[in-house]
Amino acid sequence: MTVVRSIIRGVGAHLPKRIVTNDELAKTLDTSDAWIQERSGIRQRHIADDSELTSVLGAAAAKQALIRAGIDPVEIDLVICATATPDRTFPATAVRIQNMLGVTKGAAFDVQAVCSGFVYAMTIADNFIKVYQFKRALVIGAETFSRILDWEDRSTCVLFGDGAGAVVLEAHHQKGTREDRGILATRIRSDGRYEDLLYVDGGPGSTKTTGLLRMNGREVFRHAVQKISGVIEETLVETGYSADEIDLFIPHQANKRILDGIAKKLNVAPEKIVMTLDKHGNTSAASIPLALNQAFEDHRIKDGSLILMEAMGGGFTWGAVLARW
Ligand code: ACO
Repeated sequence: MTVVRSIIRGVGAHLPKRIVTNDELAKTLDTSDAWIQERSGIRQRHIADDSELTSVLGAAAAKQALIRAGIDPVEIDLVICATATPDRTFPATAVRIQNMLGVTKGAAFDVQAVCSGFVYAMTIADNFIKVYQFKRALVIGAETFSRILDWEDRSTCVLFGDGAGAVVLEAHHQKGTREDRGILATRIRSDGRYEDLLYVDGGPGSTKTTGLLRMNGREVFRHAVQKISGVIEETLVETGYSADEIDLFIPHQANKRILDGIAKKLNVAPEKIVMTLDKHGNTSAASIPLALNQAFEDHRIKDGSLILMEAMGGGFTWGAVLARW
């Protein structure tokens, strides 16, 4: 008996033109390149201009993923955009992207799980595909976090950046074994008790403003390694793989010290970790597809590669996706 799996057919990415280095930030902020690199691993980030909306970045990433997949936009029947920085409060950024790409059938909606958004969106798309509701999905992570940063708060603004990445998923019959291609296991979790550790202090329903990002970095750090390791282990147990069988580890790019901690706890070899944090900063929901795209362009992803993606973000939300290319 065969099963339907979501195969990753293509990946794409798009970054704003402007690069801002740590030294540039240090001109207006009481910080230094050395502090930022030592505490986070970040060297630079891309910052969107007024015309580079979340939808614009997301649509550009999606176009590249579609071209690489060899799939025409009219064949797409599901568009999910993971974002915490939508163009407008409504409609969803995904429907704007749908329109920009010329996708006219199926459904489009946003997913709000902050830095875990891409893992949530992949999980949702995969479940729709597995129940035959949609056949080809565009899963996008797109953010303009620079718009919700307090540029006078050195403890947060140095950590984030803007960008977008996307994948095309397609339904394919597979044998139903762990050697199958496509998404093999997903886990998503959340725990609202931790809301006040990482949040935005505004919103249409409370302050009628957008608000700015607030974070207790030390506490976020304390929870990250443990929570992320837990969901990763669950996906491995479900599929019967061990951490050393993973070919590529594509984590949400929040902080090098968090990534090193997870790798150490799971015993993942450093050369298997894809690290783009130094060039992009933390791009929230965009960071995993941006890193996936980088690994693809660097020819680090081969046919059959076993890839583990994981994230944790505001909420808290967290999750993991195990897939074979
Ligand atoms: N430049 C210079 N000094 C700074 C800066 C800066 N940009 N920011 C803070 N400091 C100072 C602080 O004011 C403090 O000074 P003090 O001792 O005189 O009070 C000192 O540096 C130490 O501050 P801490 O906050 O204790 O520094 P810490 O070592 O915890 O590092 C950091 C801060 C990098 C935010 C760390 O806690 C962290 O990485 N946390 C994880 C948060 C994260 O990654 N969030 C991303 C979103 S969630 C996610 O994606 C998982």
